[in-house]
Amino acid sequence: MTQRLLAALAGEPVSPPPVWVMRQAGRYLPEYREVRSRHGFQEVVTTPALAAEVTMQPIRRFDMDGAVIFADIMTPLEAMGVEMTFDPGPKLEPWALRDVANLPELAPDRIAHVGETVRMVKEEVPEHTSVIGFAGAPVTLLAYLLEGGGAKDFMSLRAALRSDPGAAAEALSKLARAMNGYLSLQAEAGADVVQLFDTWAGLLDRHLYNELAVPPARESLEGLSVPTIYFAPGAGHTLDLQAGVGATGYGVDWRIPIEDAFNSLPGHAIQGNLDPAVLRTDPDTIRRDVKDLLTRVGGRPGHIVNLGHGIDRRTPPEHVSVLVEAVRS
Ligand code: CP3
Repeated sequence: MTQRLLAALAGEPVSPPPVWVMRQAGRYLPEYREVRSRHGFQEVVTTPALAAEVTMQPIRRFDMDGAVIFADIMTPLEAMGVEMTFDPGPKLEPWALRDVANLPELAPDRIAHVGETVRMVKEEVPEHTSVIGFAGAPVTLLAYLLEGGGAKDFMSLRAALRSDPGAAAEALSKLARAMNGYLSLQAEAGADVVQLFDTWAGLLDRHLYNELAVPPARESLEGLSVPTIYFAPGAGHTLDLQAGVGATGYGVDWRIPIEDAFNSLPGHAIQGNLDPAVLRTDPDTIRRDVKDLLTRVGGRPGHIVNLGHGIDRRTPPEHVSVLVEAVRS
């Protein structure tokens, strides 16, 4: 049986379209909370049997078309010696821009646990389910390194990119080479597709985005043996520039009509773009909004149904079933 997700990425017409949900393995699922009551977040990520188990939870429950490997965008940085805790987001000592370029290379043996998780998941998923590896895009990783954790506006990133674009480009290129190696490790272990999360790139203006976010994102995806998806939420103002990343498909958030993405990125698959808030409503509203999304797409080939950002942790799991059934009926 073919993988619907791969067919959509190849631009083939697929009916019904593939569906999966960003952050589908996580705290809205009671079975995830049960595992987390016994094991810390980093322990789950670094123990392949636990990471594979948590990755499989939404596959068993919803039969998603994609199984996204359980890890974090910060996982490879931890393997490069960046110390952090999770509470629930990453917390670390802020880094100076100039030190980032001097991070050690990502040693494959220090990240081998993710390869092992991919192999275990690939073994376990049904044939029609695509295994999705992922990494954080360099600008987004740099945002966390400079800030030391989450922030609303990542001023420290924006100030650093403006005051020292040369050092920024060096730091970003270092991160890009590491993520390229990390993604190819996942592809070699059996990931069918990989996604690059550029969560904070949308904070940049078009010029900075094009000069400093696009080149390292492109470098992260270069030469991989599997199709790629690039996702930058809040970046509707850069849609046309995103083509420079050279991904196979592009994820878009809920702020823009999905037709705009198809029009701005011709020849590419488009993933999205339901508002995660839709899953906090009720079954009738979910069915109506799914129908509206599919009508807007109008049967264009290359659509992957997903939310426009990660699922909210207060989402009732039954609402995810309603979403998947609405897509498939
Ligand atoms: O199911 C999946 O999608 C796979 C696992 C996954 C996690 N993080 C697990 C996680 C993925 C793909 C990520 C990506 C990630 N991590 C991103 C990019 C996606 C996005 O949302 O924009 C970012 C920005 C991070 C950084 C990060 N890690 C944050 C902001 C947080 C707190 C988030 C929250 O849910 O409140 C984390 C921690 C984290 N990563 C959790 C999970 C399930 C919650 C940890 C817990 O169990 O306590």
